[in-house]
Amino acid sequence: MNDNKITVPKEPVLFMLNKIPGYDHNSAHNYDKNAQKFAGIAGLEKIKIYPYIERAFNEAALHGSFDRHTDKVLDIGCGPFLLALPFLRRGIAVDGIDSSKNMLKVAKENLKKTNLGYASNDNMEEISSMRDVPNGSYGFAMMNFVHQCCPNRKSLDKLFQVAFKALKPGSTLYITGAHPDHLDVAHSLCEYDIEDVSTMKEGQRYTGRIYQQDGTSYDLYGDHFWQIDSLKKSARKAGFNFSNGDVEKIEDVEVLSPVRQPSREAAYFGMTLTKPMPKAQVA
Ligand SMILES: C[S@@+](CC[C@H](N)C(=O)[O-])C[C@H]1O[C@@H](n2cnc3c(N)ncnc32)[C@H](O)[C@@H]1O
Repeated sequence: MNDNKITVPKEPVLFMLNKIPGYDHNSAHNYDKNAQKFAGIAGLEKIKIYPYIERAFNEAALHGSFDRHTDKVLDIGCGPFLLALPFLRRGIAVDGIDSSKNMLKVAKENLKKTNLGYASNDNMEEISSMRDVPNGSYGFAMMNFVHQCCPNRKSLDKLFQVAFKALKPGSTLYITGAHPDHLDVAHSLCEYDIEDVSTMKEGQRYTGRIYQQDGTSYDLYGDHFWQIDSLKKSARKAGFNFSNGDVEKIEDVEVLSPVRQPSREAAYFGMTLTKPMPKAQVA
């Protein structure tokens, strides 16, 4: 893609989802409470993640499913918006959606800190249902480290349904997260209280810690275990196809800390899903 002439995209709309059917989001996990700390450390972790998202996006754009003049990216569970900022810098419009007010506050601060001129305070739109996100209007969506917040199969299904509805036919959803096969191996920036992943049940809740670069940590609770197969099942149920097939493994980030080591296993995964075009009408 030719990025030589970059027009700054319109200020992102941040959809604040204040009610998720099926569960009390604020008591479900502590991403809201630790939004600021998460933003600090998530930035580092995302160094390894972003190139995979970028590649998935470039492939989608190359195949014509994303028109950079008219289309937008949707960042589902955008948190501090760190993975959206590189898109904006490339001139690609992004909207975000999250159910945590504090995460979106940090997202707004991060937008203001860019030199792209985003300063307004009226880009937050409160919605009470994912149904309020414009349907079929996004040319690419990403969902990074979000599915583990789903406490049960119903909410997992819902997340994929929401992504499916928001996307235009023919476009891509790229998902990333901590690799479920290796959650028992400590990562450089976090560790989970799981001794053996083979004993974990689908949807089982687990705790852990996220490490700051100075070696201090804060507790993580309310994440839920989902095998890749469960994600595929929910994605298929929503209507997604698997392009490029499958799941890719993403290695851990190195941190300059004497006490933390990167995971020797693939710490993260990425998965490409496509919303199929409607079947051609037979005359
Ligand atoms: C671990 S953070 C990841 C944030 C960001 N995607 C990133 O990778 O840096 C998970 C985020 O997903 C949000 N979230 C969880 N479930 C959600 C849902 N059903 N709808 C919207 N946001 C959700 C949380 O509030 C939190 O901000």
